[in-house]
Amino acid sequence: MASKSRSIYRCTECGFEQSKWAGRCEGCGAWNTLVEEAVGRTAGRPGRPKVPLTAVPPTRLAAVAGVQVGRWRTGLAEFDFVLGGGIVPGSLVLVGGEPGIGKSTLLLQCAARLEAGGIPTLYAAGEESAEQVKLRADRLEEDAGPVHVLPEVRLDGILGQTAALGARVLVVDSIQTTYTDDLEGAPGNVGQVRECAARLMRFAKETGTVTLLVGHVTRFGGIAGPKTLEHIVDTVLYFEGESSSEFRILRAVKNRFGSADEVGIFEMTGTGLKPVANPSAAFLSGRDSASTGSAVTALLEGSRPVLVEIQALAARAGFGTPQRVATGLDHKRLAVLLAVLERRAGLPFHNLDVFVNVTGGVRLVEPASDLAVVAALCSSMHDRSVPADTLFLGEVGLGGEIRPVSAAERRLAEAARLGFRQAFASARTKTASAITVTPVAHVADLARLLAA
Ligand code: TYD
Ligand code: MG
Repeated sequence: MASKSRSIYRCTECGFEQSKWAGRCEGCGAWNTLVEEAVGRTAGRPGRPKVPLTAVPPTRLAAVAGVQVGRWRTGLAEFDFVLGGGIVPGSLVLVGGEPGIGKSTLLLQCAARLEAGGIPTLYAAGEESAEQVKLRADRLEEDAGPVHVLPEVRLDGILGQTAALGARVLVVDSIQTTYTDDLEGAPGNVGQVRECAARLMRFAKETGTVTLLVGHVTRFGGIAGPKTLEHIVDTVLYFEGESSSEFRILRAVKNRFGSADEVGIFEMTGTGLKPVANPSAAFLSGRDSASTGSAVTALLEGSRPVLVEIQALAARAGFGTPQRVATGLDHKRLAVLLAVLERRAGLPFHNLDVFVNVTGGVRLVEPASDLAVVAALCSSMHDRSVPADTLFLGEVGLGGEIRPVSAAERRLAEAARLGFRQAFASARTKTASAITVTPVAHVADLARLLAA
């Protein structure tokens, strides 16, 4: 290789950079993840600035023009909500998710809606031909006909055409297929992805073009090497869901123009994604409240409480180690809760296979849902259903003690709205008017109450 440009080696998993190639990354310890990257010629990185340092004089904050508050609404309610009330002109939004989850569908719907609102939009398709994009467009309820499509993977081509068309919104599907000739690496490697994202960011800021970027999530949950893109863009949205469920959750994990952690809930239908206005009712719609091993809890998804059903099945294990299968929650958390039930409430799960499932493709991340998992397990163990109008709220400690949860009143209010009449929760939980809270201090108390 020519000696004019220096190379560094960057880990595709953690983004760590080192000056020499090695089989193993010094940053995260992963094997065979170091990728060569040219430095010096890339414009997006600090180093030798091309402009003189004095080109932009500093200004007093008071003299800086206020941020434009105008946002573009797509009218796709949950999408606008997650962004904080609409798209901010000039912003760079990354939409990440596993293949097949619906990223292209979502952004094509947005493009169609923006175009219908008089905002010229260009859809750069790097993964599919224009015909394939049209096939998807034909399924949608929105009329995507007026949207311009460009089957192009070279970044310069995409930016050139966006400028030529005068598009105010650019959809790049996906960042992994986009590449620049300025780097030698193949499309999709960390160097290309970072460089293309950095240049798209500059383009967005300089021209005020909204850029919506699709990013594939790797098997380990990061977008093209975890964190390498997240700090470059303004907003990161993750599109999640179980393939078996029609529900999709759009989660803001970073948002420079709104609150992070907000979620939007969609349903994938035959005619594209539809916002779900009442997620709690949707997630509980298939519930058979008479069946054993079912318990309902209220999660806090962003600022909104959402009710979900947790199902558990404990069955006599066959030969060998009993199985523990958890869908929608961490299997280690399940192991902890089973151990607590075994030791603190005397329930013999050690020779039972245990299966736990969260309906609607939702993932439990908050410990507030512990008590509902425990209730579902007890219910299955005793083969007695829990009363249908009962909500469970509480974190379970290793001693078997039940701790209060945050924002309990909001969660109880949502349950009351859906017709729930009682809740099992920590004694310190404040009661919302329409719902009676039965205080439970310990998992052994809960097991006793549910067996009675
Ligand atoms: P897609 O947007 O291609 O996913 P991604 O870009 O994240 O890879 O959508 C994938 C799935 O959505 C595909 O299996 C087909 C399904 N789908 C519907 O169910 N209804 C629809 O209206 C559309 C357009 C797609
Ligand atoms: Mg796609």
